[in-house]
Amino acid sequence: MSLLATKPIDRNLDESNEAQHSLKRTLGAGALVALGIGAVVGAGIFSLSGEVAANNAGPAIVLSFIVAAIGCTFAGLCYSEFATMIPIAGSAYTYAYATMGEFIAWIIGWTLVLEYAVGAATVSVSWSSHVYYLLQRFGVGFPPQLAVSPFDTMTLPDGRVIHGIINLPAVFSICLISIILIRGISESALVNNIIVVLKVAVVLVFVGIGWAYINPANHVPFLPPNTDGTFSGHYGWFGIFRGAGIIFFAYIGFDAVSTAAQETKNPQRNMPIGMIGSLAICTVLFILYAYTLTGIVPYRQLHSAAPITLALAKMPYPWLGVAMDLAVIAGLTSVMLVMLLGQSRVFYSMSRDGLLPRLFSDVHPTFRTPWRSNLLLMLFVSFFSALTPIATLGEMTSIGTLTAFILVCIGIIILRKKRPELPRPFRTPLVPLVPILGVIFNLLLIASLNPYNWLRFVVWLAIGLGVFFGYSRRHSKLTAIADPTSRPAESLGD
Ligand code: ALA
Repeated sequence: MSLLATKPIDRNLDESNEAQHSLKRTLGAGALVALGIGAVVGAGIFSLSGEVAANNAGPAIVLSFIVAAIGCTFAGLCYSEFATMIPIAGSAYTYAYATMGEFIAWIIGWTLVLEYAVGAATVSVSWSSHVYYLLQRFGVGFPPQLAVSPFDTMTLPDGRVIHGIINLPAVFSICLISIILIRGISESALVNNIIVVLKVAVVLVFVGIGWAYINPANHVPFLPPNTDGTFSGHYGWFGIFRGAGIIFFAYIGFDAVSTAAQETKNPQRNMPIGMIGSLAICTVLFILYAYTLTGIVPYRQLHSAAPITLALAKMPYPWLGVAMDLAVIAGLTSVMLVMLLGQSRVFYSMSRDGLLPRLFSDVHPTFRTPWRSNLLLMLFVSFFSALTPIATLGEMTSIGTLTAFILVCIGIIILRKKRPELPRPFRTPLVPLVPILGVIFNLLLIASLNPYNWLRFVVWLAIGLGVFFGYSRRHSKLTAIADPTSRPAESLGD
């Protein structure tokens, strides 16, 4: 993922080429930390935190955040080595294609669809709830059933629980962003920085003001006893791990830091600071936020895609709700933009490598963007946005991303053995211990998720394998690359 920016795709390639050859290193540790925070803070904290507190962990959601952060830290250290070793901008797909061959790359690319496309659907559901509440504040009401999946319910600030019919604002947001991406927008680091500041401000202001409204009774018991059996994921210790697997979503995006490796000054020092620094800051923000949220609203009432609204309803500051909703909506919009952009660029790379049909790399004659890919994605993502509960979307995003992380960790061990001579500006410490711990932790998070998700994931992989053996293998431009550093940069789109 990259900064909040889309540009004509071929110009993007030329520039990334240029950057790769000239290695203009301008980013310091602070810029990397900001980049990471900007990509990370979104629907995970502003929506899924409510679901996890209500269904899985109660106030102990703060422990879920810590467990998820540990898995991310190990994976992040592995990402950094890849990013600084392979002189091309890119995602886990790019690294895998250049080092582990097309089959593993295909699997990673296929799981990244869950990270980026299904992730965008997850964020759109969060966006929808916040827009619904904002419009309500201004007296523009519409039935809340039209902002919720038919398979989900929503708790309104007055305590009523409603059943959904279809999530229309979520579909609207995906269509809007897809159109923006098709037309292309110009890069604005300033807008990106403003949104980062807004998102962090929302959390800090919420904690600063909300702290006074914490009712200590809401934190007792801190770890609610398990219900429905030890492995049901409803509270208890297993609930913390189930919660960690879901709330892992909140950290997705920190890999954006690794994609800036080629523009980083002194990557040996700054890459781990940027990666671990943004993870650490987000973890602290998330813990403070979750502690405050569960202190203000009893955790069982937090079943909502806009839990912060429920908490703000208990404070006597109506203006705060409006300001927060606006900031959250801006932040979520930027996350969706980055995710849909990332997805179309991964598809672009896969299509250029022959693993997907050419239409995914067709560039619009005027806008110079991969418009057919954006249109198909718009249909695919809108379908999920309209009909799927946010918790299911979040879990699917998490399982896909966790799988990609595991493959990245394994890739580091393989490459250290196969190509020990390659220059590595940043070396993951304590190999193979750190990658192995990354694999174990992220597997543990997958294992904690609801078994229905494993099933959905297996079906998703089976479809992917069908496409690979039915199409991709026969159309692939090569089976593996002997020298990862020799991969032609022209074929990279992200
Ligand atoms: N971490 C990002 C979010 O929570 C994906 O929206």
